[in-house]
Amino acid sequence: MKLSLSATAATCVALLPGASATIFYAGVAEAGGEFGAWSATAQVGTGLPGRFGVDYAFTSASGVDIMADKHKVNLFRVAFLLERMCPLSYGLGAKFNETHFGHFKDSIDYITKTKGAYAILDPHNYMRYNNPSSQPFSGSVIGNTSDPTAATTAQFGAFWGELAKRFIDNEKVIFGLMNEPHDLPSSLNLVNLQAAIDGIRKTGAKQLIIAPGNSWTGGHYWTKGGSEANSNWIHKLTDPLKNTAIDIHEYLDEDFSGGHLACTQDPVTNLAGVTAWLKENKLKAFITEFGGSNTTGCVTMLNSILDYMSQNDEYIGWTAWSAGPFWGPNSPCCTDQAQLGSLEPGSKAADGGPSLYDTIWLPVIAKKVPAKLQWSGLASVNGGELTSR
Ligand SMILES: *[C@@H]1O[C@H](CO)[C@@H](O)[C@H](O)[C@H]1NC(C)=O
Ligand SMILES: *[C@@H]1O[C@H](CO)[C@@H](O)[C@H](O)[C@H]1NC(C)=O
Ligand SMILES: *[C@@H]1O[C@H](CO)[C@@H](O)[C@H](O)[C@H]1NC(C)=O
Repeated sequence: MKLSLSATAATCVALLPGASATIFYAGVAEAGGEFGAWSATAQVGTGLPGRFGVDYAFTSASGVDIMADKHKVNLFRVAFLLERMCPLSYGLGAKFNETHFGHFKDSIDYITKTKGAYAILDPHNYMRYNNPSSQPFSGSVIGNTSDPTAATTAQFGAFWGELAKRFIDNEKVIFGLMNEPHDLPSSLNLVNLQAAIDGIRKTGAKQLIIAPGNSWTGGHYWTKGGSEANSNWIHKLTDPLKNTAIDIHEYLDEDFSGGHLACTQDPVTNLAGVTAWLKENKLKAFITEFGGSNTTGCVTMLNSILDYMSQNDEYIGWTAWSAGPFWGPNSPCCTDQAQLGSLEPGSKAADGGPSLYDTIWLPVIAKKVPAKLQWSGLASVNGGELTSR
């Protein structure tokens, strides 16, 4: 009942002149910059700094080519690790490992300058810094004043100010403040995000910022958790340029983790609360992580979440989880540990069979990449001129 009611409402909205919902940015997440730092025993320092091209890499040019040229996506979300950009010996802040930054910039420039697409810079750090060896749980929460080893909120602001300054002339860049903050006070999440926004705007950088909530930035949980609910906090962020959108993640399996093969959580029902909150606060959102396996249930629900975003004005962009150069036959999500490959073009499942690129990207997600997207100008909460490629 709920499902058909909201579908009807969305259709009506879309038919009103001038009120049609629009996706301006669509594409894939690129995982790999955060790879190679994991240790089963949470050994501090594992994989740091790591060997570029061996332990980790950001994107493959061939994968980006196929996504941009063949599938005409205009958005890539590129993960990196704060501990590689700002080595532990420097601490989190404005001093970067220039070699590492150079590799990252090469990847961002390839996406934005060579291919003309947009790139979300994604510190894949769960609002933690100093020990990524057992992500997503290891490392000190940024701004935890009870933890003398934790990076401070001010350091996080300085880090973002420096990163923004280095991309200030690249209008195709979007600042994704943090991947999946979790298990910290929502007040601290807010203060950290605000410090990042302030750090960015102080440099004069005007690009779009996307800000995540606490609790893994889960859309289904946005209004839950009592006083800690993201719906009580995130609208308090202020951006002098009013060019900040919300960064939401939403998986479709039983516990919303993306760990399971079966899709059982209906996104239309589960996103209703956050969508109402976005509307009430006149905010726009991206869903930068969602995914599913190649079961018929997941195909249905992936179509459903993609249609939901295109029918609701509050959603202006998305990136599916995930492509990336180093998945091999491993899967980014949604497989009960089966090795069904990834969304990386050309990847294969462990049995040599079709990968999630073949079974999910090609027949399902790629079909929902809008024919017209924004291809020029700053990314904005208001979108931009739509053209086809
Ligand atoms: C900086 O990054 C390069 C390339 O990954 C690495 O060889 C070097 O050891 C790093 N330096 C520090 C201080 O981490
Ligand atoms: C902050 O640090 C203290 C001391 O290490 C710890 O007990 C507490 O759990 C930390 N808080 C968070 C949100 O991680
Ligand atoms: C999903 O992909 C795997 C690997 O290619 C394949 O073995 C399996 O049969 C597929 N499942 C469905 C439901 O198509």
